[in-house]
Amino acid sequence: MSDEKISSNEAIDAALHLDGDPERVKEFYEDWARNYNIDTSGSDYTGPAIAAKLLHQHLAVKDSELLDAGCGTGLVGVELQSLGYINVDGFDLSDSMVELAAATGAYRQVLGSIDMMRASESYPAASYDAILSVGVFTLGHVPPEALHVLLELTRAGGLLVISTRTHYYDQTNFQQVVDELTTSQQAELIQLIKDAPYNNDGDGHYWVFRKSG
Ligand SMILES: C[S@@+](CC[C@H](N)C(=O)[O-])C[C@H]1O[C@@H](n2cnc3c(N)ncnc32)[C@H](O)[C@@H]1O
Repeated sequence: MSDEKISSNEAIDAALHLDGDPERVKEFYEDWARNYNIDTSGSDYTGPAIAAKLLHQHLAVKDSELLDAGCGTGLVGVELQSLGYINVDGFDLSDSMVELAAATGAYRQVLGSIDMMRASESYPAASYDAILSVGVFTLGHVPPEALHVLLELTRAGGLLVISTRTHYYDQTNFQQVVDELTTSQQAELIQLIKDAPYNNDGDGHYWVFRKSG
C-alpha cells in the first residue's frame, strides 16, 4: 500500500491505508467509533442513502429479512428504517461500532467481532432476502472474494447491494470476481451505477446482484 494521501480527512485517510488484517482493522475502528459519524458526515458520505434507495427500488417488500454486512455505526440501518424495513440485522468486526449501531434502534439484531470472511460460521447459508455492504469493499478492508461469502448467506433469488470506492475497483480484482460469479451463473448483475457520488474525496460504484436459483 502506498503512502499517497487518498482523503483530506485524517481518519478516513488512515482507514484507507489499513492492510486488511482483521485484528488491525478492528483495533482501528474501536478507536474511530466515537468520531466516525461526525467525520463521515463532514465528508458528505452519501453511500448508505444511495445503497438503501437502490435496494428499495428492486425489493420494496418491507418485511424482507436484510443483513447489513460491516454495519459500522448503523448509517445503512437508519436509511433502511426510514424506508420502512423492519427486519434488518447487522454485523461488524468492531464491537464499539456495533454498540452505536444497536443504539440507533434500526436493527433487529447486531453482532460484533464478526469477520466478513468467516461470516458463514455465524449465519446459516441462504438466510437473508438481501444483503447490503456499504463502505467495506474499500482499500485496506476486505478482499473482493468476500462477495462469495455474502452470496452464500443470500437466499436464492435474493439481492446483494455493494458499494465499491472507485480506487478500490481500479486497484483490486473486483471485476474478475464479478465476472466469475456471473459467467458461472451463481449471480446476475442486475444494476451497476458507475462513478456515482460517494463522498467528497471521490466517486463510487454501486452494484446490485441477484443470486441465481
Ligand atoms: C467505512 S466503515 C462503513 C460502515 C457502514 N457500513 C457505513 O457505511 O457507515 C467500514 C466498516 O467495515 C468494518 N469492517 C472492515 N473489515 C471488516 C471485516 N473483515 N469484517 C467485518 N467488518 C469489517 C469496519 O469495522 C467498519 O465498521
